Amino acid sequence: MENSPKQVSWYRGRAAYGVLVAVVAAAAAGVTALLMNISERKAEQRVPYVRVVEVTEKDTDPAKWGRNWPAQYDSYRKTALRTSTKYGGHAGSEALPEEKIERDPWLKRMFLGYAFSIDYRDRRGHAYMLEDQEATQRLTKPQSGSCLHCHASIMPLYRELGGGDAMTGFASTFKLSYQELSQKLHESGHAHPVSCPDCHDPNTMSVRVTRPGFINGIRALAESAAAVPAIPSIEIWRAGSRKEPYDPNRDASRNELRSFVCGQCHVEYYCGGKMPLTFPWANGLGADEAERFWDGTKFPDGSAFYDYKHEETHAPILKAQHPEFEMWSQGVHARSGVSCADCHMPYMREGASKVSDHWVRSPLLNVSRACQTCHRASEQEMQARVATIQGRNYELLQRGGAAIVDLIQAIVDARAAGVGEAALEPALALQRRAQWRLDYIAAENSMGFHAPQEAARILGEAADFARQGQIAALRARAPDLVPAAPAAGSAPLPPSSAAPAPSGSGTRPK
Ligand code: HEC
Ligand code: HEC
Ligand code: HEC
Ligand code: HEC
Ligand code: HEC
Repeated sequence: MENSPKQVSWYRGRAAYGVLVAVVAAAAAGVTALLMNISERKAEQRVPYVRVVEVTEKDTDPAKWGRNWPAQYDSYRKTALRTSTKYGGHAGSEALPEEKIERDPWLKRMFLGYAFSIDYRDRRGHAYMLEDQEATQRLTKPQSGSCLHCHASIMPLYRELGGGDAMTGFASTFKLSYQELSQKLHESGHAHPVSCPDCHDPNTMSVRVTRPGFINGIRALAESAAAVPAIPSIEIWRAGSRKEPYDPNRDASRNELRSFVCGQCHVEYYCGGKMPLTFPWANGLGADEAERFWDGTKFPDGSAFYDYKHEETHAPILKAQHPEFEMWSQGVHARSGVSCADCHMPYMREGASKVSDHWVRSPLLNVSRACQTCHRASEQEMQARVATIQGRNYELLQRGGAAIVDLIQAIVDARAAGVGEAALEPALALQRRAQWRLDYIAAENSMGFHAPQEAARILGEAADFARQGQIAALRARAPDLVPAAPAAGSAPLPPSSAAPAPSGSGTRPK
């Protein structure tokens, strides 16, 4: 229904004044400025808007929505502009981001045997997500239709393929090749990057999630016993009747949805042709829990799960992908209720009203709005705090890179010296564990910022496992020279982020 009669809707009218009054009262009571600002930012405002055109689930072209919400649309379009910071945005030309695998040769060596060793670049703005995927040399290897889950406004196509049901349609797409599904996407007219209906209900404009991979993943997380301090609605659902599965659009708070919308894509996943796109959250959101999930996963043909066999060592490797949502969940910001949108889509002033900046990008380009609403320190000081965290993370990461290269070389040398396959098993198993951890932090795009201590913990383990693997390879070559008993304390410790024992199990630590 084009050009329907002008209709004024009231957006987010819930309890706005109540919250504001509470904020003012809290300030009067002397609560810190930091807390006050958080409440203020969470306070829901009434923002009137005029619908000049009707938009529906089928309208994936953001330009149409832009007629109703020009400020959001204009900022959304800016994701086509080039941005760069020391570690964020992209280095390289306007035409093409720089290759990560050329900048860090250890990355390339780690990925030998997998498409990521051919082409793996810096990310850039949302406007490019579909064309960058279509252009990558990784598509010279067979890829699954699952790739499109996170690179296009694909929901109408999922519904079409599922006879009206998106979950059913989605479940069929992993069997299609990338090229087959891409052709259907283009024919359907929905070949747009992430668009308004991917995150908004067209009738109410409230934020929502649409992606089947996320809905399945968060449901499995809710059904586990893993601690999820960053997602209180899961604890509430668990305490209820559990008759209906956890549904983020029904059960999550608006604040949680301000992160969930990003968790639809900025996550670790399996995306091949052997089974549907899977988010590995059934044991929890930590790196160790995801590893346990993959270690316990079998492909439908009964074989053990891995992403690729390393070309030089033949170790069955797990490839990690951009776990921003997972790392965020391990940090103090998530625990304090600070969402992705708080930092990456901060409010900006548009005339008399405040709108969310849809120019999703590095918050370091925008410190006054992204950080100083909560933090009192100067912009320079905030930049310096981030630089310290990122610099330390970068140094640890490079050390891990050196260790993994030494491990790979030690295995190659051992095999060349005639060591048998059985004797190499321990070193190969340690390569898998070390690489998972190193890649997890290398693939995470905040250079440690989202959860600095957790990132350091994971990198510490990565270097330890890589060096243990190197020793195992040397031992396989020269058992007389390298003693067999592992040094005390070198056995893997239980992960600190492990879920506490479910209540009632009777084994609480003293
Ligand atoms: C407290 C603020 C904060 C929160 C909350 C936050 N981030 Fe970030 N994020 C940052 C900072 C700071 C960086 C580093 C940017 C840089 O290096 O330029 C970053 C980097 C990133 C990057 C890489 C940016 C680039 O320009 O390359 C992505 C992607 C990202 N975050 C996604 C997320 C997602 C998804 C969430 C929620 C699950 C989230 N962030 C939550 C502050 C935040
Ligand atoms: C439908 C999937 C999808 C959703 C939803 C999504 N992203 Fe992204 N995001 C991507 C992809 C894909 C890229 C990389 C595009 C490229 O390099 O061509 C990206 C890039 C980014 C970047 C890098 C921007 C730059 O200029 O370098 C940031 C920051 C980011 N996303 C944050 C977020 C945040 C925050 C949210 C939630 C508000 C979010 N994304 C939601 C898929 C998604
Ligand atoms: C679960 C969501 C998801 C799936 C599935 C997914 N991507 Fe992405 N992709 C992202 C996000 C988020 C980014 C931006 C962050 C980054 O580059 O690390 C990205 C970035 C990219 C980029 C730009 C940076 C680079 O890696 O060179 C390319 C190209 C790409 N993806 C291709 C693919 C291909 C091919 C597939 C299928 C094998 C795929 N993607 C599947 C979420 C996804
Ligand atoms: C990746 C997810 C995502 C996409 C894509 C997206 N938005 Fe949003 N949008 C958000 C989030 C998060 C908020 C903050 C919502 C809240 O706090 O309730 C928001 C808020 C809004 C609001 C409420 C007012 C405001 O600014 O806070 C409007 C209107 C809006 N978006 C319009 C659009 C339009 C139009 C498009 C397409 C051009 C779009 N959005 C695309 C995530 C998204
Ligand atoms: C919505 C409020 C909010 C926003 C926005 C916010 N922070 Fe925070 N930040 C917090 C809270 C709360 C803490 C925890 C402080 C505490 O409890 O003592 C924190 C802690 C930190 C810490 C110390 C903890 C750590 O992870 O090392 C740093 C550094 C930090 N913030 C930087 C930033 C930067 C940089 C930005 C902008 C990109 C930002 N914050 C945006 C609320 C916020």
